[in-house]
Amino acid sequence: MEPNDILFAWGSTMAAAVDDIDLTDWDFWARPPAERHTAFAALRRLPAPAFFEEPDITIVPRGPGYYALVTHADVIEASRRPADFCSGQGAVNIPDMPPDMNEYFGSMISMDDPRHAHIRRIVSRAFSPRMIQRFEDQVQTVAARIVDEIRADGPSDFVPQVAARLPLKIICDMMGIPESAYQTVFDNSNIILAGADPELVPSDDYVEIAGQLLTAGQAIKDIVEDLGRFRRDNPTDDLTSALVNANIDGESLTDQELGSFFILLAVAGNETTRNAIAHGLHLFTANPGQRDILLDDFERNVPGAVEEIVRYASPVIWMRRTATRDTEINGNAFRAGDKLILYYWSANRDETVFERSDVFDITRDPNPHVGFGGPGPHFCLGAHLARREITVMFRELFTRVPGVRTAGEPDRLLSNFINGIKHLPYDF
Ligand code: HEM
Repeated sequence: MEPNDILFAWGSTMAAAVDDIDLTDWDFWARPPAERHTAFAALRRLPAPAFFEEPDITIVPRGPGYYALVTHADVIEASRRPADFCSGQGAVNIPDMPPDMNEYFGSMISMDDPRHAHIRRIVSRAFSPRMIQRFEDQVQTVAARIVDEIRADGPSDFVPQVAARLPLKIICDMMGIPESAYQTVFDNSNIILAGADPELVPSDDYVEIAGQLLTAGQAIKDIVEDLGRFRRDNPTDDLTSALVNANIDGESLTDQELGSFFILLAVAGNETTRNAIAHGLHLFTANPGQRDILLDDFERNVPGAVEEIVRYASPVIWMRRTATRDTEINGNAFRAGDKLILYYWSANRDETVFERSDVFDITRDPNPHVGFGGPGPHFCLGAHLARREITVMFRELFTRVPGVRTAGEPDRLLSNFINGIKHLPYDF
């Protein structure tokens, strides 16, 4: 299937509008979110997934292009068939990665079974009932401290002052990373997910960008690998000790696997939850009626509010899959080797699944969003923790600084992958 086939099939007037959409062009991602959502709505009306050329990033040969899966049904179908649509050829990058990057970023999210299942089994210890109880208590303590501090210091920028701090502290605590290393983890995970944002990656030279990414990955890896070596001989009850020392089945992570896992945690667990919290404040400020509903009965309404924040904001915009054989999804054919980009951010606005999909409605029920991924082996490992962090942060904020609200427009990250907010003025 070629792009022109789609346009022909679709009719000339709308085709012209769709023809203007180029998901590879950074200018598209710099447009206001509402405009981008209108474009995705047009892509959802196409009879088949649209095809886009890949960017030429110069450090690897230009790839064959990719199909944009934009409907809820297509994203679900590709997620639930990992044997047909694999992650192992890259889940978080559209161009294939140069081999030296795999050492840093080749984590479980870009693996297939049996390797994926092996690593997931080991790291799932982080999410055992005992660990969960421990981090739930910790989330409460940290969120309360953050609110103590903003009450004492006064409001400035919500992202570094509130939204970024909770997930960073929780992940570092879980792994046993000392407080002295937090800033390094924070700065370098920002670089890894910088997209094309000039504030974070002040270059458009791909060789230089690749160098910056490798340096950032190495910095995060060094911290945890040093700790891992120490914890092999001096175990405590932190997660690093659990990962580097054999479990009852005799399994443990190698240094390299530990390093890549921590890069994944630092990135997947930090930036996503941070953005969900920042978007949440923005959404409750823009929708005071929804805030009233939440505060009317916080405990009853907060689970729905958290799901709706994740649906509406879709902090992770997409993941990639690659077809392993000639096959089809919902009647559309794909060939072995085709790259498919699963746009969660579009599936979460699919009007055939979500009534008034552009409306932020915390009472939405059911809310079958795919913000944490579709059904399948890679479904977000930290979904429970993320839900907990968002819940507790808003409980602390809305009960102890009830006037809290944004005081200006979000300063958005220029990225096609993370729906990020870099800075958010606020007040209370
Ligand atoms: C609102 C917050 C979050 C969002 C929106 C989010 C979203 C996602 C998505 C879309 C995936 C990929 C699913 C797929 O490929 O099918 C994923 C995977 C993952 N997430 Fe999250 N995530 C969040 C928070 C967290 C947290 C707090 C952690 C860890 C503490 C975490 C750890 C992971 C890991 C380890 C994976 C890879 C799982 C695998 O490959 O088996 N995430 N997440």
